[in-house]
Order: sequence, then C-alpha cells, then structure tokens
Amino acid sequence: MAEKKRVGILISGRGSNLQALLDAAAKPDYPAQIVRVISNVPGVLGLERAQKAGIPTAVISHKDYADRENFERAVNKQLEADGVEIVCLAGFMRVLTEYFVTCWNGRLLNIHPSLLPLFKGLHTHERAIGEGVRFAGCTVHFVVPEMDSGPIIVQAAVPVLPDDTPDLLAARVLEQEHVAYPLALALVCEGKTRIEKGLVRITDANWPKTGQISPLP
Ligand code: GAR
Repeated sequence: MAEKKRVGILISGRGSNLQALLDAAAKPDYPAQIVRVISNVPGVLGLERAQKAGIPTAVISHKDYADRENFERAVNKQLEADGVEIVCLAGFMRVLTEYFVTCWNGRLLNIHPSLLPLFKGLHTHERAIGEGVRFAGCTVHFVVPEMDSGPIIVQAAVPVLPDDTPDLLAARVLEQEHVAYPLALALVCEGKTRIEKGLVRITDANWPKTGQISPLP
C-alpha cells in the first residue's frame, strides 16, 4: 500500500465525525493517518475522543488572536509542524479566510449537513423540514473561500419523514455523515479525486457502486 497521507482535523465540539474518521483510520488498510486534532474551543468532547485514540491534540482558541488571519496562521504553524498533507474540517464552526483556504487549496475538506448547494449555513434540518423537501442529506466537499461551496466529493441522501423534527432528521443525516466522510477522505488520500472545471471527477473502478449511495450502506 502507498504511504498513508498525514491528516489534520479541525473541530469545535462534540466530534462525532472526528470519531468516524478516527475509527476508519484505525484500520490497517485505511489510506490516512490522523496526526493532529486541533480545536478552537477548549474542553470539548472531540478533544477527549482524540486523546482516547492516542492522537496529539492542540487547543488554539480564536479568542487569543486579534483577527481571523492571525488565528489561522497559528493553526497553520501547528499543521506544518506536524507535516500535515490534508486537512479535514469536522464540525469546525469558524469561517475561514481566503488566506487559509488558499494555503490548503485542493487539500481541505469539509462536511456539511445538507445536500449542497441547498441549505448552506446553519439550521439546515429545520430549514429542510420548513421547505417540505422529501430528501435531506450531507455533503463532503473541497473548501473554497465561499462558505459551504466548493467541489462535491461525496453526498448521501436520507428521506425526510412526515413527523420529523430537526433533531430526528439530524440524527438520520448524522449516521450518513459518519459513512460519507471516511469514504470521501479515503478517495482523496488514494488520489482518486481530480478537480476539473470546479467539479470532482472520481477515478475509482468501483465508483459509483461504492460511493453514490442513498442511504449509504
Ligand atoms: C455535523 O453535523 C457537521 O455536518 C456540522 O456540524 C456537526 C458537527 O458534529 N457541520 C456544519 O454545520 C459545518 N457547516 P460533530 O462535531 O459531532 O461531528
């Protein structure tokens, strides 16, 4: 197997997507190793999850910096010190500047709890229910400066049920997030994604069999 890619993960909270990535990376044939978890919020559950998995953590609080870019420079310094090659945002709730996004162009992934380009921003499940859509889902995408945009790598859809509340729908979507993110990261680490004219082309003999799934297996 080719050498595993060195991955850094940025979080702000509970870290259930982080956990899914940690679990995937614990498998010997997974193409990524997680070398650092950084939280911008101290004391969050995600940090505990990383520590339990034996992954080095750092807290870099945005509150300690005069502006976004200085905060991001501190994050970058840590990532560079760790030799990180690919960065995953996993419930990282800070908008990133063009500076950071450009530094990691094509190597920065995010997960968003909607079928983008629908429902960018916050309260996605409440808004999906409010619009009466029949399917909701999640998207893993490369990050570009515009928020919740950028080339889509993997999406998973779930039905919206008649009696759904935002919490019920969120739980159904989250289950799929935990499958979609490890899948997307693996595709990127294995060099099976290519960005062409702003869209991701997947070069995997099993695609879409293993990937385009609704709901994911
Ligand atoms: C996840 O649902 C993720 O998709 C969402 O925050 C949650 C984090 O949960 N991210 C965003 O809304 C980013 N725009 P987690 O900390 O348990 O992974």
